[in-house]
Amino acid sequence: MNSTPATRARHVAIIMDGNGRWAKQRHLPRVVGHQRGVEAVRTLVRSLADSDLECLTLYAFSSENWKRPEDEVSDLMNLMRRFIKSDLEEFIANGVKLAIIGDWRGLAPDIVALLEDALARTANGTRTVAVALNYGSQQEIARAARMAADEGEVSAEAIERHLFTTGLPPLDLLIRTSGEVRLSNFLLWQAAYAEMLFLDVLWPDFTPAHLAGALDQFAGRERRFGGR
Ligand code: IPE
Ligand code: IPE
Ligand code: MG
Repeated sequence: MNSTPATRARHVAIIMDGNGRWAKQRHLPRVVGHQRGVEAVRTLVRSLADSDLECLTLYAFSSENWKRPEDEVSDLMNLMRRFIKSDLEEFIANGVKLAIIGDWRGLAPDIVALLEDALARTANGTRTVAVALNYGSQQEIARAARMAADEGEVSAEAIERHLFTTGLPPLDLLIRTSGEVRLSNFLLWQAAYAEMLFLDVLWPDFTPAHLAGALDQFAGRERRFGGR
């Protein structure tokens, strides 16, 4: 019997969606929604200290988000700069190990420098927070396939070794907030056997209690991986 009753999730990923709608509902500028979204991230990362989750992966900026108006992209980049500066010490103190997935070296040079410093200074952390920045899953798979081909073996295993997520625990649970039911180019390969949860809450309203509830639901699901 191959069927494995799901128990503890090791790796959860979240598509943090709904900042714009959160602001719109309150007649506030979109940037306020993004600011409140950052606060939700901060609170969630803090709460990891009390959980046994090994890895939390957060979709923060997709390779397609460049299509947004220039001022919104610039607001998002500025929030990123500010967040790294304000929260890095707390990450280190809480044993968070930062990982970044995506083509993050294509971001502005000052952000790349901040991220390199943050990666180096959190390297000894024990709990991973992986942030998807300038990330697109199709691009990630194409890149991994290219690298595998260069090594002469294009197998699923070889491609997997070259994904940005190599070294992270296998993805157990993928959550999307905001009520949209789509993946928007996030972790397409990694989600092959992940459980999925689509929540009707907008990202700024997401709390550690929502994550706890999601983990409870996960624990009750039966994962089969094609077996029976
Ligand atoms: C998610 O919120 C944040 C990013 C994509 C950066 P949105 O900005 O997509 O919010 P909605 O979907 O318009 O409500
Ligand atoms: C996905 O949300 C990207 C992030 C949450 C960073 P989007 O808001 O960009 O996705 P679509 O455009 O609704 O599919
Ligand atoms: Mg959105």
